[in-house]
Amino acid sequence: MRRSTIIGTGFYVPPDVWTNDDMTKLMDTSDEWIQERTGIKQRHIAEDGIGCADLAKFAAEQAIADAGMTNQDIDMIIFATLNPDVFFPGSACILQSKMPFGTIPALDIRQQCTGFIYAVAIADRFIRTGWCDNILVIGAEVHSTGLDFTTRGRDVAVLFGDGAGALVLQANGADGGVLSSFLGADGSGGDLLCIPAGGSREPASHRTVAEGLHYLTMRGREVFRFAVRAMPSATRQVLEQAGLTTADLKLVIPHQANQRIIESSAKALGLPPETVFSNLEWYGNTSAASIPIALCEAVEQGRIQQDDLIVCVGFGAGLTWGATAIRWSVPLPAVMPSRWKKIWQKLRYRYAALRSLVLRFLRWLFALRIKE
Ligand code: UT7
Repeated sequence: MRRSTIIGTGFYVPPDVWTNDDMTKLMDTSDEWIQERTGIKQRHIAEDGIGCADLAKFAAEQAIADAGMTNQDIDMIIFATLNPDVFFPGSACILQSKMPFGTIPALDIRQQCTGFIYAVAIADRFIRTGWCDNILVIGAEVHSTGLDFTTRGRDVAVLFGDGAGALVLQANGADGGVLSSFLGADGSGGDLLCIPAGGSREPASHRTVAEGLHYLTMRGREVFRFAVRAMPSATRQVLEQAGLTTADLKLVIPHQANQRIIESSAKALGLPPETVFSNLEWYGNTSAASIPIALCEAVEQGRIQQDDLIVCVGFGAGLTWGATAIRWSVPLPAVMPSRWKKIWQKLRYRYAALRSLVLRFLRWLFALRIKE
């Protein structure tokens, strides 16, 4: 049976770290409040001018190298983000222009913190149906440019951080890999977590900016109540679909939003705390990037071994939620690229940059001719 297996992982966070004490210099908050209510100690923040595709590029390069591949082996890019580089074109296309992938399809997923789970489910379908052999799946966020770092926005701004995580999923006939996916959505809860203005319904204006309607707003308590129901339920459903139970689980990789949500979900599932991975204290909530970053760190720390059953589970704006059950297999990727393959890869990077420049120049020339 054709299945998809994770054969490469990579993540990247920008070097700048803002601790809770740094946040107190910007707004009326305290390290004690943030740690007690969320478990977060610090977050990474991107420099000015950096978009999520820039962070994604570093994570993608690592994941592709970890898979022992080069960009030419990738058939498709699926990119989950809630704060894309620009309104359009999509960040998957922007990433494609930064790395030499040729003209492979590039798809954006806008399911916010559940985006990565949706992206893996879609990639898995493309692979199972034989449409693609190797898909790069990315979750990346530059949250910091969409947050109100004043006391007005303190209930939201202290929670989030920037970062990117990536996986390479490959078609494989082995028994493991992605066993099942479960996805859910309830649009009636859309107003609990949203950016109210800046879209087609209410475009950006002086008024929307003055009122801060371009910032993320959230009804925290209601989202909390939704999360502690959604994560255990999605975990159970995805396991049931795979004919398994929580007793078979080695590790749960939950969306990293709040330590209290993670602990409460573990309790609801009857799992000991060490079965549920958390790295929230170091990164804050990185939305679509939180699950892939956590997965990469769990692999790095040796918390996942061959044949282990893991569940990645998330929830977020929409409202949306979902889970993926994975039997960890193929721990040894194909041979690392040879020296020649690496040189070839470098040349392709140069060629891609040159090609992009030439195409822009030709478009400019063409536009001149039309004006005449
Ligand atoms: O990716 C998914 C996204 N979101 C989530 O998962 C968030 C889910 N919700 C939560 O994590 C929690 O609801 C929060 C951490 C956001 C808030 O915790 P809470 O225990 O629900 O606090 P609260 O919103 O009920 O606020 C309690 C108090 C309020 O003051 P009063 O009205 O009791 O005087 C807030 O004004 O805490 C105040 N407050 C703060 N104080 C210091 C809110 N934000 C802050 C802050 N620092 N940053």
